[in-house]
Amino acid sequence: MDDLIQQAVEDLAAAGKVTALTGAGISIESGIPPFRGKGGLWERFDPMEVAHIDALVRDPAKVWNILVKEMKEIVDTAEPNDGHKGLARLEEMGKLETVITQNVDGLHQAAGNTDVIEFHGTFAWQRCMDCSRKYETRDVDISKIPPCCICGGILRPDAVFFGEMIPQDALWRSRQIASDCDLMLVIGTSATVQPAALMPVIAKESGAKVVEINPERTPLTDQISDYLIMGGAGDIMNRIVAALEKL
Ligand code: APR
Repeated sequence: MDDLIQQAVEDLAAAGKVTALTGAGISIESGIPPFRGKGGLWERFDPMEVAHIDALVRDPAKVWNILVKEMKEIVDTAEPNDGHKGLARLEEMGKLETVITQNVDGLHQAAGNTDVIEFHGTFAWQRCMDCSRKYETRDVDISKIPPCCICGGILRPDAVFFGEMIPQDALWRSRQIASDCDLMLVIGTSATVQPAALMPVIAKESGAKVVEINPERTPLTDQISDYLIMGGAGDIMNRIVAALEKL
C-alpha cells in the first residue's frame, strides 16, 4: 500500500484540478452506517419500502418511523472524521476545489470544505411536500410523526429518494467538474448507484486520473480507476496529506 500512497501523493502534486466523489464509506468512521454490505441499512430495511418516493407518498409515517427518525438521531450527533478532514485539508492546501458527495449528512461542510455538491440532497433540511417551505432538521419537532409544516403539509427530508430525479444544478455542475478535473479521488462508494457512479467514467473519458480509496474492490476497479488504495478513508487520507505537506 505504501507505494500506492506515494503514487497518489505524486499524482496529486502534479494535478492542477482535483475533485473528489464520496459515498457512505467515508462516513462510516463517524458512526453512520453504509447502505450496502455488512451492517448496511439495506440489510435491515427494504429500500423500496422506506426510501422510494412512492413509499413516502403512500405512508409518510412509516418512512419517518423506520428511516428518517433513525437517520436524524445519527446525523444530529455525527462528527467529521479524518477522511472528511483530509479533504478539507486538501482544499486549504489549494489542491482540491469541489467535493461531489452522495452523502446526506453534511459532514464535508462540517469538516471545512466550502464547495460541496450534495448529489443526493441533504438530511440537514426538511421540505414541505405541499408548499416546499424548508425547515432545519434539528428544529423539527418529531414528537408527532409525520411532522407537519405550518401550512399543514407533511415534511420530508430534502434528500433524493429512489424514483426521484437528481437536482438539476447538482447533476449539471458535477458533470462539468468531472469533465474538467485532472484527478478524481473516489472515496467510500460502491459505485453501484447511477448517475453518481457515472462521474468517474466522465472524468476518465476526459483524460483525468481516477484514484479509488476503499477497503473493497468496486465495479470501477481495473476498469475505470487507475488504481485502488485498499483501506479506510481516515487512515489513507491522513497518510496522503502528511506526505503532501512534506513536499
Ligand atoms: N473507508 C472508505 N470506504 C469504506 C469504508 C471506510 N472506512 N468502509 C466501507 N467502505 C466502502 C465499502 O466497501 C463500500 O464500497 O464504502 C462503500 C459503501 O457503499 P454503499 O453503502 O453502497 O454506499 P454508497 O456507494 O454511498 O451508496 C450510494 O445508494 O442507497 C443509495 O442514496 C444512497 O447515496 C447512497 C447511494
